[in-house]
Order: sequence, then structure tokens, then C-alpha cells
Amino acid sequence: MDLAAVILAAGKGTRMNSKLPKVLHPVCGSPMLSYVIDAVTGAGVNQVVVVAGYAAELVSRAVEGKAEVVIQAEQLGTAHALIQAEPCLKNFSGSLLVLCGDTPLIEAGTLAKLVDQHQSAGVAATVLTAEVADPTGYGRVIRDGEGRVLKIIEEKDASPAEELVREVNTGIYCFKADGLFDVLKQIIPANAQGEYYLTDAISIYAGRGQDVGVVVIQNPKEFAGINDRVQLAGAEQYLRGLVLDDLMRTGVTVIDPPSTFVGRGVSVGRDTVLHPFTFIEGKTIIGEDCIIGPGARLVDAIVGNGAVIQNSLIIESIIGDKCTIGPFAYLRPGTKLGQGVKVGDFVEIKKSLIGDGSKVPHLSYVGDATVGKKVNIGAGTITCNYDGKSKYPTIIGDGAFIGSNTNLVAPVEVGSKAVTGAGSTITKNIPAGALGVERAKQIMVNHWASKKKNGNI
Ligand code: UD1
Ligand code: CA
Repeated sequence: MDLAAVILAAGKGTRMNSKLPKVLHPVCGSPMLSYVIDAVTGAGVNQVVVVAGYAAELVSRAVEGKAEVVIQAEQLGTAHALIQAEPCLKNFSGSLLVLCGDTPLIEAGTLAKLVDQHQSAGVAATVLTAEVADPTGYGRVIRDGEGRVLKIIEEKDASPAEELVREVNTGIYCFKADGLFDVLKQIIPANAQGEYYLTDAISIYAGRGQDVGVVVIQNPKEFAGINDRVQLAGAEQYLRGLVLDDLMRTGVTVIDPPSTFVGRGVSVGRDTVLHPFTFIEGKTIIGEDCIIGPGARLVDAIVGNGAVIQNSLIIESIIGDKCTIGPFAYLRPGTKLGQGVKVGDFVEIKKSLIGDGSKVPHLSYVGDATVGKKVNIGAGTITCNYDGKSKYPTIIGDGAFIGSNTNLVAPVEVGSKAVTGAGSTITKNIPAGALGVERAKQIMVNHWASKKKNGNI
């Protein structure tokens, strides 16, 4: 059966105290709204409408290609918000999921269950509810003696007896689209907040003698709405925990989960070990048997099997099998390392290819370079790739040996098995197998130390 979803996200989220609309605040690296969109899509929804208001252009941009956006210019209540989606759903007559953009922990499976029960019961509306220890702030679900839902009453409108009810409205519903908008238009803002409450749709259906379905959520954490940055941090911690649990179950060792940060889009192979203070972000893919961290940050990186990466920052780079990186290496976008490459301490590599078995062990900058296989780049080597205006390439052939503290002034080419003398500033190409050396002759001043002592210098 056809399934669509409307996500209410017009509010500013005042308590976030932010310029950014609440639903675009990231949780584990992605905007909270994207989690809600992923959850409804995962539940089988093929049309998603987002109701935006505050900073609607930003919201539109963030959901481009994933959802249609309608604007609610004034936030007059949740029913009013849902009515704004009507033009997008004119020809739609299936089931409609309605939920909020600030509940990033909701899972596709829970929504699928809600839809399933809604459809098999054949009712006009089904509410996802939760039994909680402390119902403060939520709408209470009021049932009759036989357990039929009569209404949802907001806390501000509740009688003392109603306030005691611990079954709350999660704000997540499934409706029959047919007739829904007619019901919504009957709602009036006769309540403590003067708002058009979507929850009043429930009492309208019940008042007509129509059964309202109820699904009680199993894990109350899932519907927790984020209202401020303390709750945002709580959601981050919870989601991060889920990601790490999944990794551990698939064979990744995480030495210290509270200090390990892995994004949802990351994949890590079996028997890889993640050490503390490690951040793995974006679309990073890590192979099997790697040792990552302590203190590593990888963003959109691809790492082969058996690599060791310590205390390093790696961005948009590809690292071959059995490479060792760090401590304190910085691999910038466009870096590609072959197999068994060593990149040691205080080395920066940018947009360069380094061939199998090559080593850049210490204190070097390699930029815009193509380095062959089994090359040794001595400590302190710098590719001078920029003249203030343009960037130029450096090419180093297989088996070359770059002496310590060499400046390679690009564009320049060092042939295979060629050698540069330590401390040379190389401005001319070096043919294969040749030695390129450029430095002043050493001068000796005999007895200098004693002359200095006697004041003769
Ligand atoms: C709502 C429910 C309450 C439920 C709770 C669950 C109503 C009247 N109450 O209360 O029963 O327990 O959610 O979290 O629906 N929004 C708009 N436009 C508006 C108003 C709200 O887009 O005009 C969006 C907000 O951005 C937010 C969501 O709807 O994402 C919920 O609105 P909010 O005012 O926070 O409702 P609650 O008081 O939380
Ligand atoms: Ca809320």
C-alpha cells in the first residue's frame, strides 16, 4: 500500500539558542532531520514532505533530493503545520506517517510496525504511545474503561487526574490520508496555548465512534525529542553507542567506547582495533586487522587491511594494505599510498601518490608529488611545490633515495634509483641512477675553539 510521510520541522527550536534551525543540528555528524528521513524511508515511505518555517531555505537545501519542502510561515500549531502539506498530497490516498524532525533516534523498524498495525486494523488513525516513569511535558493518552483511546490532552490543558496518566503521546502517528485534511480543518485553537493541536484529530475520530489504533513503543529512548544542547549531547552519546555496539558485534575491537567516535556512514573490517581518542567520520572505510589510534582522526578515508595509524589526521586519502602512519602525520585530500608505505612522524602529504614500499619516515612535506616504489625520502625533505601563484608537480622514480633535508623545487623530476645529496636544493631534473648534489664546499678553520677562547676571533 502507498505510504507517505510528513515531518513537522517549522519550529525554530528556541531552547537551542542557535542561528541554525534545530532540525539541522548534527548528531554524530549528520543533521537530526536526516535521521528522521532515513527512518521513514527505511520503513517503506516513498514520498516525504518536510514542513519548514524558520530558516526554511537552509532546511530545503539540506533535504534536497530526499524530500519536498512546504513552508509554514507562522507556527500556529501542529495541526496547522500538517495542513500545509496538503497540496503535496492531493492525489495521495494511502497511509500517512506524521512525525517531528527533532526525534533522530526513531528507528525504521518501529515506524514499520506502526504502519503495519495501522493498516491491518483498518483504522483511520493510529498513535504511537509510550509508558514513561515521568510524563512531564508530554500529551497524555486518555482511554475509556475498555482501553479505547478517547483523546490526547496536552499537559497545560490536563486535569489533575489526567496529569497522573503515564501513557504519553510520542507525537508519531499513522493516518489514513483519505478524509484526514477535512478532520484537520475542523480543529480550533481552543486550548491553553491557543494553538491548532494535531492531537485534537484523535478526539474527533473517537467522537465519531471510529476506533483509534495504538502501538506502544518498546524503547522509550527512540521518541526522545531534542529541545536543547544538553539533550543533543545525550542523543549523540546514545547514537554513538549504537554505532559502536554494531561494530563490536561485527568483529571490531573498541578498547574504550566512551572515547571513540565513529560516524554512521563508516565501515570497519573484522579484527581491526580502535584505540581511544579516535574519530572516524564521513564515508570512511577501514579494512581488516588494522590498528587505529590512539588519537587518530579519519575523515572520508579509505584504508586497506593491516594498516597501523597512530595520532594522525587523515582526510580524503586512500591508504593501502599494511601501511604505517604516524605518530603525528597529516594526510590531506588527494593522497594515495600504495601497499606497505611508511609515513612517519611530523610528515604532511598533500595530493600525492606514494608507491608500494616507499618511506617518508620523518619531518617532511610532500605535495603534488608522484613518488614511485621503494623510494626513501630522508628526514626534512620538502617539495617546494608553490611559487606564490601556481602549484607544480614533483616526480620521483622507483628506488630513488632522497637525502635528508633536500628541497625539491618543482616542477622537477628525480629519476629511478637516483640520489640527492643531503641538504641539496634540487632545481634541475636528475637522470636515473645519477647523484644530484647542490651545496657549498665545507670550510675548515683549524684551532677555532681555542682561538675563540683566547679572544683571537
Ligand atoms: C507535541 C504533542 C504532544 C506530544 C509531543 C511529543 C501537540 C499539540 N502535542 O507536543 O502531545 O506528547 O509533541 O514530543 O501536537 N511544529 C511545527 N509547526 C507548528 C508547531 C510545531 O512545525 O506550528 C513542529 C515543531 O517544529 C516540532 C513539532 O512540531 O518539531 C512538535 O511541536 P511542539 O510545539 O514542540 O509540540 P510539543 O509541545 O512537543
Ligand atoms: Ca516538542
